[in-house]
Amino acid sequence: MQNLYYDIDTKKIPSHIAIIMDGNGRWAKSRFMPRTFGHKAGVETIRKVVKEASRLGIKYITLYAFSTENWKRPKEEVNTLMGLLVSYLKKELQELDENNVRIRTIGDIDGLPKVCIDELDESKEKTKNNDGLVLSLALNYGGRADIVDAVKNISNQVKDGNIEVEDIDEILISKTLSTKDIVDPDLVIRTSGEQRLSNFLLWEVAYSEFYYTDVHWPDFDEKELQKAIFDYQQRDRRFGGVK
Ligand code: IPE
Ligand code: IPE
Ligand code: MG
Repeated sequence: MQNLYYDIDTKKIPSHIAIIMDGNGRWAKSRFMPRTFGHKAGVETIRKVVKEASRLGIKYITLYAFSTENWKRPKEEVNTLMGLLVSYLKKELQELDENNVRIRTIGDIDGLPKVCIDELDESKEKTKNNDGLVLSLALNYGGRADIVDAVKNISNQVKDGNIEVEDIDEILISKTLSTKDIVDPDLVIRTSGEQRLSNFLLWEVAYSEFYYTDVHWPDFDEKELQKAIFDYQQRDRRFGGVK
């Protein structure tokens, strides 16, 4: 494969990489610019990373774009983030579709502004038959909220007599979460130095590998993605067993 900056084993590419895109604000601040400037720059990184992930043969990419806690931010910043989502999809949909990317979402999409819902619906509909990279956008997403929804859903199935309490197992819970059609992440990347999950994919990361970098999201690029994958490939995943 061309343009490899690290000695990546192209036969051992992780299937699913989940990314906590952090540091847009700090990146902007270091340039004496408003936080929203950082978010705009961050969209460029999404473009690069999605393209590179697709090229490397990664099957699933999940991007944490807006958490259930991010509503606490100033209204203007929230509006900018929602606007960037719409403009990203408007601009990129054609190319994403041509690159065989399927767009899906996790999180409570109904809680987003209507323009976002409409744009997301169109993007999902247009790319629904693509069988290349699956790009999941985590929007108004919280890992705990997702588990609460699953518990309610399963409780209703029991109440309606469709399943017995004894039928509840890990597989059923996995199949009831919003990540139901995708494998658990092999690798979770968080940029910008913070080493926490911030309510991302709590159930799904039980055996994921974690990679933290001090690089702010707007400075993350193809080379940084390859570095994370190379680092991941040096790990020994034991899943509780012995070698
Ligand atoms: C990540 O960058 C973008 C979102 C959370 C939407 P931040 O906005 O969190 O940037 P910092 O952490 O304040 O630098
Ligand atoms: C996590 O980043 C959420 C997203 C990347 C969308 P935050 O910047 O919101 O997380 P905290 O507040 O530092 O934990
Ligand atoms: Mg942050």
